[in-house]
Amino acid sequence: MDSSSLGRFPEYRPRRLRQSPALRRLVAENRLVTDQLVLPLFVRAGRRVRHPVSSMPGVCQLSPDELVRDAAAAHRAGVPAVLLFGIPDRKDARASEAYAAKGIVQRAVRLLKRELPTLLVITDVCLCEYMSHGHCGIVKALEDHASILNDPSLKLLAQSAVSHADAGADMVAPSDMMDGRVAAIRTALDGAGFLDTPILSYAAKYASSFYGPFREAAESAPKFGDRRSYQMDAANAREALREVALDLQEGADIVMVKPALAYLDVIYRVKTQFGCPTAAYAVSGEFSMIQAAAARGWLDERAATLESLLAIRRAGADLLITYAAVAVAQWLRAG
Ligand code: PBG
Repeated sequence: MDSSSLGRFPEYRPRRLRQSPALRRLVAENRLVTDQLVLPLFVRAGRRVRHPVSSMPGVCQLSPDELVRDAAAAHRAGVPAVLLFGIPDRKDARASEAYAAKGIVQRAVRLLKRELPTLLVITDVCLCEYMSHGHCGIVKALEDHASILNDPSLKLLAQSAVSHADAGADMVAPSDMMDGRVAAIRTALDGAGFLDTPILSYAAKYASSFYGPFREAAESAPKFGDRRSYQMDAANAREALREVALDLQEGADIVMVKPALAYLDVIYRVKTQFGCPTAAYAVSGEFSMIQAAAARGWLDERAATLESLLAIRRAGADLLITYAAVAVAQWLRAG
């Protein structure tokens, strides 16, 4: 062989593998699967209540009977898991309803597990929906500002998690961002005999404007200040790795990055570094952006939703928590 032929490779033409839908599917590196979708649901007291959340088209606060109806429909569509948020009738400075044996989430979990035993029920563990001030921990008023107390809040979070497990929750998901809460919850769960209840930790949860619509849905907006003293700063990615490392050491079974679409680099780094089951939460604002644009005919709802979620999977997420879970399951089934 002379040297000139060594330097002349046949031309690689990437378009060869893009010629047909079947060929494209054959070489697809990632795909969305219904098995990894989680649908967030909001439950409040009452009967036959479907209270629409104005900033999230199609999303409602549901009374337990309606919750079972929607959860059953999601389950039939193939969605394996729901993530429950509670809106209590009563809020106070100790978040009492968060860990009340007959609190709204505890009642809803019992009902869901009775009516739909094969549906995985994951509960969000936080205090903000139950606190009169809307913060995720106990607040201490100081002279010129209020401080969110870390360690005293851990006890209430651990109590909440145990009360959820006691009601039959399949998994608990702490979203408060207090330091040390995974260890506190693991210890409390183990102590109460719930050794097999996994913890899905909101490990890298950023202080994000994309939670806006959720705070309407969960009635959990802070009455003063913001969450920047406990949730992460959008400027930081390396810090997310330290947060995740801590949560894994403390006993987290699955770690979450939240929000998802604006934090794909964080999802990628977490998955690459730790290789553990990784969840991504496509939060309320991500959902509402697409909905709002689609309503104006500016974006194709289905295409934009599926592309966003596929991008989140490509970044490394396993579980996808999305308000579009049922629609996605139906789209995937339709092919
Ligand atoms: C509660 C909590 C929030 C979300 C999930 N759990 C809001 C917040 O931290 O203010 C946001 C979810 C969403 O926007 O879809 N701590």
